[in-house]
Parts: sequence; structure tokens; C-alpha cells
Amino acid sequence: MPNIVVVGVQWGDEGKGKVVDVITPHVDVVVRYQGGNNAGHTVVVGREKYVLHSIPSGILHPGRRCVVGCGVVVDPGSLIEEMEALVQRGVTLDGNLFISRNAHLIMPYHPALDRASEAKLGRRRIGTTGKGVGPAYVDKAARVGIRMADLLDERLFREKLELNIAQKNRLLRDIYDAQTFSVEEILNPYLRYAGWLAPYITDTALLLSRWIDSGYDVLFEGAQGTMLDIDHGTYPYITSSSTTAGGAATGTGVPPTRIHGVIGVSKAYTTRVGGGPFPTEMSGAVGEAIRTRGNEYGATTGRPRRCGWFDAIVARYAVRINGLDAVALTKLDVLDQCETVKVCVGYRHRGEVLTEFPEDETVMAEAEPVYEDVSGWLASTNGAQNLADLPAKARHYLDRLEELIGVPFCLVSTGAQRAETILIEDSPLTRWFPSVRTSLF
Ligand code: GDP
Ligand code: IMO
Ligand code: MG
Repeated sequence: MPNIVVVGVQWGDEGKGKVVDVITPHVDVVVRYQGGNNAGHTVVVGREKYVLHSIPSGILHPGRRCVVGCGVVVDPGSLIEEMEALVQRGVTLDGNLFISRNAHLIMPYHPALDRASEAKLGRRRIGTTGKGVGPAYVDKAARVGIRMADLLDERLFREKLELNIAQKNRLLRDIYDAQTFSVEEILNPYLRYAGWLAPYITDTALLLSRWIDSGYDVLFEGAQGTMLDIDHGTYPYITSSSTTAGGAATGTGVPPTRIHGVIGVSKAYTTRVGGGPFPTEMSGAVGEAIRTRGNEYGATTGRPRRCGWFDAIVARYAVRINGLDAVALTKLDVLDQCETVKVCVGYRHRGEVLTEFPEDETVMAEAEPVYEDVSGWLASTNGAQNLADLPAKARHYLDRLEELIGVPFCLVSTGAQRAETILIEDSPLTRWFPSVRTSLF
């Protein structure tokens, strides 16, 4: 009964939504364990495109139970909008969606603080999504956060809100010179949200434990990526949660002993949104061409994503930090028109070549990539469903990446659609879910 984590290898937007969508038919439960509506997970089904922000991508498969775990921060207004949009498109939520009582709320002052803090940071701004995710985790760690369960107790909610408003208004007014909030302007809409969300709020850790006892398979859907992890990422240019596989346990209450494997999702190149070091970033026409072909614009904010070559240092670091069993490689087709494809195999720093990810923030910022050139295949891989259908040079590229990463590929994605997928025979994925072979095409 495998319970498997899907985690981003790079700086997010690797195609986790698609990979989760491909695996979901073979599991019973899909659970988000961290992040908030800063995430944008895209699933393309025929002509329909869905972008999920707070709800697990598994919700698109009827009958799958979807859990928003305690490690997630929830903006209730945005969640309700997402729920309504899904219902309008024929998705059933009742009986399928469960929200942790312990998940922290994003309150209206959190996006305000997020934006004000970014403005104050100036040149050193993080380039956040502006959704208030960082400030909500600040309150969680400071033990003044307001949780889902508090919404259901009007007296307690008002008390906690009053305390927070007094504190946040001083911050907003005195430090940031920004607009303040009144208790009433937040209380009324939030009490309305409470009425809406009450049927979905429950003890999800207990539910998950019982489901696992009864033999259900659970898929953990990571948001963001390894390099945005609060401990292991490119601090301070990170998000404020544990994006890596360890977060799946703390962010759900499922113990590590009940998690059986981890799949990393990586693009065949690299992208990053927001500020911070990015050694393999491409400048000029090549970067622009990849951005256009890969449609590299943020699923949440619409910002153009910074594009770069594949970075084997980052990928091997993700293997180590997450204990990856296999990698799902996405967007191979985006490289189809490149005459030469570059792969970063080391970082040059002050005369030395590093082959391990440098934890030191200044080393990462100064690192110059050491590239290996791979000949491009200049032929279409879009929609390929078998390794044998790929041009020899594209297969060579995959072989070289696999060798550098040190763990096998379990699937290679050649387009946004479900069926545009090469399933690798005899990989951890096919061993965990043998029926995955039958359901893709
Ligand atoms: P996530 O946040 O990791 O779920 O990724 P996003 O949804 O933010 O970004 C990935 C984008 O790439 C989405 O628009 C997907 O529809 C698209 N996509 C996923 N896999 C492939 C692929 O193999 N080829 C192409 N061309 N697009 C893909
Ligand atoms: P998915 O799940 C890519 C980035 C932001 C910024 C940094 C901090 O779709 O892969 P935050 O709003 O979290 O405080 O911003 O993290 N970021 C993402 N980048 N994909 C995401 O999610 C991201 N979520 C946050 O751009 O650099
Ligand atoms: Mg995304």
C-alpha cells in the first residue's frame, strides 16, 4: 500500500500538477501539505485547462478524497472562489474535500504586510506572489496565528482577531506607512466564509490515519520546489514553508514511517519566478525562445518566468534532501528546436569547481555554471508516448541527465496533456502502481 510524495526538484512550476493528475487514478487520497494559494498547478484535460491553487490537483478525478493538510495556509476567500469555479465546471466537492482544523488562515492583513515588506526591501525584495503566505507563516511560528477551527468559534475568532489587528495595525502604520484594518471589516466576511467552509473542516490527521489503516493509498502533492524550501532552499529567496519531502509528514500528521517513496518532478531545463540566485539563467534570445515555447508565465501571477538550462547540481541536491526514488522529467518537447542543449555539471567559484550544492548564500550568488554541451535533436518530441519514438539525440540527452542525477526517470512528459507522457517500464512508479500502464492512453 504505497503512500508516495510528489515534490518539485527546482524552483517550482515543474509540472507537479500534471504528474499528480497522471498518478491520481491509482490512489485513493491526494493531500497538500504546505504552501498556500501562492501555488498554481496546471492540469490540462482535452480542451479544458484547470489551475489549482489551494485544492489538491486530484480533485479532478471523481471520487478521489482530497485533503488540505495542517501545513497549508488557507486564504478562505480565495479557497471559496476556487471551490465555486470547480463546482461550476462539474467537479463534486462534497464528500471529496477535507480541510484540516489546524491549517492556518491567511488574513487580509497578511497580503498587505507581504506587499509592504516587499516594497521596503527594495533591491533585496524576494519577488513574492503577494498572497500573504510568508506573513501567515510568520504568525504561525510566532504563535499568534488564527486557524481553521477558530473560524468555527465566533467568540474565540473575534478575540484572536482583535489581538492581531492591534498588533498588525501598528506594524502597518508605524513601520510600513500602509493602510490599517478594522476588526469589523474582517469579522463579517470571515464569519460568512466560516458558514461556507464548516462542512469541510475536520481532523484530517485522524482521517488520514484511519484511511491508511484501511488500506487506502495516499499521494502527497508538494507545492513550490526544493530550492524554495525554508531550510534547504536558496535562503532568503525562498517561500516560507517546508516544500521538501520531510514536510509531507509534519504538514499532514502522517508519520514518516507510513510514507514509502518520493518522486521528484523536474523540467528538462529550469525556470524560476521572483528574485534570487539562478546560476544557469539564460539571457537574450535563447531564454526568450524557451519562455515562448514553454509558455513560461506564472500560473498564479502571470509574471514571466526566468528560464535557464538544466542544473545537475540542483537535481542531485534534490535527490539527497528528498531521498528521491525517481524523477518525472517534464517539458522535454520545449527543447525540440535547440541546436545545442546545455547541462550544468558544476559551479565555478573563485577558481574552484564545486559539484555539490553550496549552502552558503554568497557562493550560490557568485557561482558560474560549468556546462557540458549536448547536441540538440531538432525534431519534434511533442506527444511522444514511447522512448523508442524519440530521436536518438533526445534519448542521449535523457541518458546523460539520468546518469548525472543518479536516480532513474519514472516518466518523461512530452506535452501538457495526460496522454503526452512516456511511462518508463520497470521504474519505482510502475512497481508502486502497476496499473498506471493501463490508464494513461
Ligand atoms: P506546477 O506548479 O509544478 O504544477 O507547474 P505549473 O502548472 O505552474 O507549470 C507547468 C506548465 O507546463 C503548465 O502550464 C503545464 O500545463 C505545462 N506542462 C506540463 N508538462 C508539460 C510538458 O511535458 N510539455 C509542455 N509543453 N508543457 C507541459
Ligand atoms: P508552484 O506550486 C514558482 C516563489 C515566488 C517567490 C518566492 C516567495 O506552482 O510550483 P511567496 O509568495 O511564496 O512568499 O514567494 O517563491 N513561489 C513560486 N515559484 N512556483 C510556485 O508554486 C511558487 N510559489 C512561490 O515567486 O520567488
Ligand atoms: Mg505552478
